Amino acid sequence: MMEPKACSSTSIILALNLITFFLLLNFAFGTLSADESYYSRNDFPHDFIFGSATTAYQVEGAANEDGRTPSIWDTFAHDVFEGAENGDVACDSYHKYKEDVKLMVETGLDAYRFSISWSRLIPNGRGPVNPKGLEYYNNLINELISNGIQPHVTLHNFDLPQALEDEYGGWVSPKIIRDFTNYADVCFREFGDRVLYWTTINEPNVFAAGGYDTGSTPPRRCTPPFCYSTGNKGNSTIEPYLAVHNILLSHSSAARLYRTKYKENQHGFVGISIFTFGCHPIRNTEQDRVACQRVYDHMVGWILEPLVRGDYPVSMKRNAGSRIPAFTNRESEQVKGSADFIGVIHYYNINVTDNSDALNNHMRDYNMDIAAVLNFDLFSNEEIAVTPWKLVEELKKLKLLYGNPPLFIYENGQRTNSNSSLQDVTRVNYLYGYIGAVLDALRDGSNIKGYFVWSLMDVFELLDGYKSSFGLYYVDRNDPELKRYPKLSAKWYSKFLKGGSTSIVGDHLQQLDKDLSHVSVGHSIQ
Ligand SMILES: *[C@@H]1O[C@H](CO)[C@@H](O)[C@H](O)[C@H]1NC(C)=O
Ligand SMILES: *[C@@H]1O[C@H](CO)[C@@H](O)[C@H](O)[C@H]1NC(C)=O
Ligand SMILES: *[C@@H]1O[C@H](CO)[C@@H](O)[C@H](O)[C@H]1NC(C)=O
Repeated sequence: MMEPKACSSTSIILALNLITFFLLLNFAFGTLSADESYYSRNDFPHDFIFGSATTAYQVEGAANEDGRTPSIWDTFAHDVFEGAENGDVACDSYHKYKEDVKLMVETGLDAYRFSISWSRLIPNGRGPVNPKGLEYYNNLINELISNGIQPHVTLHNFDLPQALEDEYGGWVSPKIIRDFTNYADVCFREFGDRVLYWTTINEPNVFAAGGYDTGSTPPRRCTPPFCYSTGNKGNSTIEPYLAVHNILLSHSSAARLYRTKYKENQHGFVGISIFTFGCHPIRNTEQDRVACQRVYDHMVGWILEPLVRGDYPVSMKRNAGSRIPAFTNRESEQVKGSADFIGVIHYYNINVTDNSDALNNHMRDYNMDIAAVLNFDLFSNEEIAVTPWKLVEELKKLKLLYGNPPLFIYENGQRTNSNSSLQDVTRVNYLYGYIGAVLDALRDGSNIKGYFVWSLMDVFELLDGYKSSFGLYYVDRNDPELKRYPKLSAKWYSKFLKGGSTSIVGDHLQQLDKDLSHVSVGHSIQ
């Protein structure tokens, strides 16, 4: 690993100046024309929000400090990873939040998406509020507000208090609805005078499929033969469905509470975020195209159909039969319309092949109900293919299928392996493409309100720990101070946000890549 302390920021600035120079050069020679595909920040609506994101367990650290108790993610990390590969220290944002807010200001962010650690705020999951937890989130929120940065807060991000998991099985028990609603009540009451954007639960689709079917994410419940690794607790045939059902009921209960008790005075919004993807039918046959639709129903429709129409997709109910819970009329009415906005999480595409034969099996888990073979770009630190047109497609689909709901792109970003090179050209390339895709979708009439880069800095990743990174800022894990360093992507994003000349013509993505690589060859950081 190169020693990041030795890196000079002047070389980055030099590199950026060179990039600007190359672009001007291209422009002057007519390679780039000021056609409609040219974009800059000024092309976005004036109230469009640009931000970046992290979550509690991934950055806070101080896992055992000031009264915090473990969450199911703490347990997962300590069981699955070795050594210090966990969130005990993470980026130490618990102590460094002021420094982090400074980075956001320097970058030019309008907004910061973060999550509250439930077990820091209410250590036993319910009951007394931890004054130190309250103080930390008040400090963070005040620091953001006083620097003009809008907080977007998630209440649950894979980190249920372990106490509730142990007591009654967490999300598979209907008891969670009351406890989650009370937790949300504390957050709305304490922080709602300054926080307008609330996400109840992050990615319930991934959380349920990973946590309750294959056992590959917290809380690692799965039963053979459906486990990806070893495991034997829970029940893979029914629990993913049960967990999502209780999540939807908890979300809608918290949303109703907000509307009846807080909305009038606080004027905020309560939404939910969903993992989405582009779908690629591998053989381009009718069967594979239908399989793509089925995959979409089972992953996106699973959450969105109940929120928009009050029930699960028909194909899901058919394939899961009695294993998927039925909404009562009262529940259906409560869930329907309970999201003020949808948080879209989008990184990549899924390759799909039809596998309808799976339905001949009598004993099925959630994955078999999908009746398709999925190829995810998930379990590695490989860089993600840049296919922004698939995001445009995805956003069009959300618009057409679900009545054009207000959307925030809450996560989007490029994965690289974690190393001290600050020349993350592929990340710039990725962000350039996907921010352009968001603009295309806006022009197509999608109701998108904001875009957040995942992630502000290199964090403890759910599946890869510290091996892969998505950050705009590099965190030197060999330095006890965990110093942050801006990557090229942070500089690029900052230039873009400040209306600078780094906005590039869509068709010239590859040209940009070439220009940037050229620059990085001559000016690699020593
Ligand atoms: C899972 O639940 C189903 C339905 O209740 C039941 O038939 C099956 O035996 C359970 N499996 C396990 C491993 O407990
Ligand atoms: C999906 O398929 C495309 C081309 O068919 C291939 O380039 C890509 O690597 C595949 N992605 C995954 C995640 O399997
Ligand atoms: C570090 O990342 C850079 C840029 O992504 C890459 O070119 C380089 O090979 C990586 N180095 C190591 C040691 O993995």
